[in-house]
Amino acid sequence: MASSTDFKHAAVEQWTADPCGRVGMPGEPGSREYFESLLASRQSYAPWMTEILGYAETAGLDVLDVGSGQGIDVALYSRAGARATGIDLTPRHVELAQAHLAAFGLTGTVVVGDGEQLPFPDGSFDRVSSNGVLHHTPDMPAALREILRVLRPGGEARIIVYNRRSFHYWLTQVLWHGLVRGRLLRVGSVERVMSETVEFSSIGARPLVKAYTPGECAAMLRDAGFADVTVTVRHFRPEDTPPTKAIASLPGGHHLLPARLLERLVRLGGWYVVANGRKRA
Ligand SMILES: C[S@@+](CC[C@H](N)C(=O)[O-])C[C@H]1O[C@@H](n2cnc3c(N)ncnc32)[C@H](O)[C@@H]1O
Repeated sequence: MASSTDFKHAAVEQWTADPCGRVGMPGEPGSREYFESLLASRQSYAPWMTEILGYAETAGLDVLDVGSGQGIDVALYSRAGARATGIDLTPRHVELAQAHLAAFGLTGTVVVGDGEQLPFPDGSFDRVSSNGVLHHTPDMPAALREILRVLRPGGEARIIVYNRRSFHYWLTQVLWHGLVRGRLLRVGSVERVMSETVEFSSIGARPLVKAYTPGECAAMLRDAGFADVTVTVRHFRPEDTPPTKAIASLPGGHHLLPARLLERLVRLGGWYVVANGRKRA
């Protein structure tokens, strides 16, 4: 069985070879054009993140982004006027995030480090976010305890992870990849199926990929010591499941998936859980 260290090595391999969101991106990695298209691709993939992460509210705050990747959120916090810091396990991502800030003349600090052992003193930040990261780390409860520790009293955490109670999990990962394509029989668990299918890898890297129910996320935040915990579910696109993808590809198929129906599918089983909590004042 893979150890926590093996999973962390696999994460570094994964995102060194294939920076997150890089697939098919125009422009030389590190150039302004590259980061402009990275941001455009994020905004088209998940426009709801702007409101959920609330960049605009962070002017003048100390904000930490755990698992900052190529620095999309760090740059957006910085642009909104926050004193922004990012931390990531993958040195290549840290280099790219630093280049991201530099390409737009933004201020901010990005360092290499592990979200399960944050290298910051207690009470350093007013806000901590972690977007699409903690489902890749072996000990999410440890990372949540660390996030609580580095928050100031009254400070807020905004955590986004994959939702196990989602259409994508059940229809695409379990039913399609797992059963129809026979991956479950070959690799033995849905987590391993997701490790092969969720993140694009050009080198066959196998990072840890977990998914949590909204209830599990709420319980983990409460157990870590957060107050005012809320969870919501976001994100459903027709291409997220085989049946809706097939409908959308029919001539005029988009009319069969009107915005109101997609909105209901988001609430019933979107692919991301958003969990917020506050450190007691
Ligand atoms: C899917 S990417 C998301 C990046 C970024 N948050 C974004 O939204 O573009 C996952 C990131 O989490 C980082 N990561 C995984 N485990 C980590 C850990 N224990 N501590 C810090 N970063 C971690 C990876 O290196 C990678 O950069």
